[in-house]
Amino acid sequence: MELLDAIRTRRSVRKYEAGKDVSKETIQKILELALNAPSAGNRQPWRLHVVKNQLTKKALCEAAFGQKFLEEAPWVICVVAVPEESAARYGDRGRNLYCIQDTAALVTYIMLIAREFNLDTCWVGAFDENRANEILDLPAGQRCVAMIPIGYAAEPRKDRPRRSLGEIVVFHE
Ligand SMILES: Cc1cc2nc3c(=O)[nH]c(=O)nc-3n(C[C@H](O)[C@H](O)[C@H](O)COP(=O)(O)O)c2cc1C
Repeated sequence: MELLDAIRTRRSVRKYEAGKDVSKETIQKILELALNAPSAGNRQPWRLHVVKNQLTKKALCEAAFGQKFLEEAPWVICVVAVPEESAARYGDRGRNLYCIQDTAALVTYIMLIAREFNLDTCWVGAFDENRANEILDLPAGQRCVAMIPIGYAAEPRKDRPRRSLGEIVVFHE
């Protein structure tokens, strides 16, 4: 799939085919490619926890205030930031900004690359972070910043409205 098609067809999908699994090899390929994402100073201040275990997915669903599709997706990829790896070079700007931007770029790469494999995703950011960190057994200082359920869509991809360029762009020429 061309990049532009991936961009045009990526939509938040919140219902996944129950009987259609995704192989671990496919997930590994997606993640391998996603590691091409940029990061400030190439610090790559991230970890990935890839969850298939049903009990763990159920716990993540509860931490995310009952967003059921987390439990129903074949896999949930949890993106974890390591702020101190950015802070070591960039101080507060690394700790508070770069590591969040870096992990956001990684999330976006994962979601777009997933389309190449005809898979769908949804960026989930609404969850109790402390609870998620506990469930994933993260060492102190690591933060789960996003969850990405991934699977085959069992609902149509809906186009959602976007602001127009005129509303948001300022050209300085
Ligand atoms: C930082 C962030 C957090 C989000 N958190 C959630 C979430 O917790 N649950 C959810 O269903 N969608 C969540 N979304 C998905 C947005 O609702 C969605 O991207 C937006 O409505 C645009 O729709 P589209 O992705 O289909 O283009 C989140 C998106 C972002 C970028």
